[in-house]
Amino acid sequence: KVVAVIMVGGPTKGTRFRPLSFNTPKPLFPLAGQPMVHHPISACKRIPNLAQIYLIGFHEEREFALYVSSISNELKLPVRYLKEDKPHGSAGGLYYFRDIIMEDSPSHIFLLNCDVCCSFPLPSMLDAHIKYGGMGTMLVIKVSAESANQFGELVADPDTHELLHYTEKPETFVSDLINCGVYIFTPDIFNAIEDVSTNREGRANLRRLSSFEALQSATRILPKDFVRLDQDILSPLAGKKKLYTYETNDFWEQIKTPGLSLKCSELYLAQFRYTSSHLLASGDGEKNAKIVGDVYIHPSAKVHPSAKIGPNVSISANVRVGAGVRLIGCIILDDVEIKENAVVINSIVGWKSSLGRWSRVQACSADGDYNAKLGITILGEAVTVEDEVVVINSIVLPHKILNVSVQDEIIL
Ligand code: GDD
Repeated sequence: KVVAVIMVGGPTKGTRFRPLSFNTPKPLFPLAGQPMVHHPISACKRIPNLAQIYLIGFHEEREFALYVSSISNELKLPVRYLKEDKPHGSAGGLYYFRDIIMEDSPSHIFLLNCDVCCSFPLPSMLDAHIKYGGMGTMLVIKVSAESANQFGELVADPDTHELLHYTEKPETFVSDLINCGVYIFTPDIFNAIEDVSTNREGRANLRRLSSFEALQSATRILPKDFVRLDQDILSPLAGKKKLYTYETNDFWEQIKTPGLSLKCSELYLAQFRYTSSHLLASGDGEKNAKIVGDVYIHPSAKVHPSAKIGPNVSISANVRVGAGVRLIGCIILDDVEIKENAVVINSIVGWKSSLGRWSRVQACSADGDYNAKLGITILGEAVTVEDEVVVINSIVLPHKILNVSVQDEIIL
């Protein structure tokens, strides 16, 4: 049997995602109309002999309860949320729930970061892992040399695929091959995590003998039960014939900022063409709105037939889109109203917001510049943009009323 664990982190981790993480935990923010965590979960469906999926995090349990029960029903597979009482780090969180995870006596455990967007080639990773015969196999990808330092950089043996060297977010360039945050392990991973805790405890005790040193190291020593997968496990075990790599040539992105979420929504919409084409909207402009490229429209949304939507648009539940509206490259969240002839381009429009007639909400992102903080316009929850007002390259915090046009501003 196989189980999958998805690390969903907690509220303190979502700060870069503001103002969109104020009242929705980041893992539930919709990409291509589905909660972020839904994409790795549905990828897990393709794993042979999968017994359970666990989400581990320190968000409030009630925030995940509804989603977890509906997805369990949909997949006919138990999906459980396990809440940590405090952050234990990416490996410590796994270890904390080891007894529950081992209940089904799995031979393999998939471990996925929730904030990555990729095709999750899990069955082929499993095959490769069994062939390599190590304790763990990590999904890796080549990125540009300039961007590599935001990730774990690594060196792998080109023939055996063994992980030879690993450094987390190094200051000087090591390699353009990076860690995708998707792993498969044998249950031996729990022993490796336990060793880190035990060693740390041993060192702490030693240091207690010399109070000067203890004082010095108190700030450096992490709690015994806080274990990071990258620094504490991957780095020391590289080159010991325990860890292997599986390289993907498919798409991969990390979802740290709202701008990147727009990019990832686009990637998942494009993937729907192959995996879930029934989720993509189609329309001819007569009975239905005119649809261009990949678009998701929630069944409860009402879109006027004279609107033109796409490419890369996702429209959530209960959204109302008026006559003559034009939407390009945007995420429209639940209960938004977009009145006649409004235009939205490269933007995220928060829950319950209202865009007036002939208003424009847009960003002129230099092509592909999703990383730049103001590459997109973001309206927080319940923002009102009055008729004919233009909002360009701005971030607007929740509950603001805009009655004059703004550009390149953060409206607090
Ligand atoms: N449950 C739980 N508890 N989850 C946690 C905790 C914790 O205490 N700490 C982190 N996580 C989750 C995050 O939500 C995320 O899904 C994953 O673990 C990794 O988060 P970080 O440890 O903050 O690392 P990162 O996202 O900056 O970088 C990691 O992922 C990159 C790929 O996206 C590293 O492994 C990089 O090397 C890698 O390139």
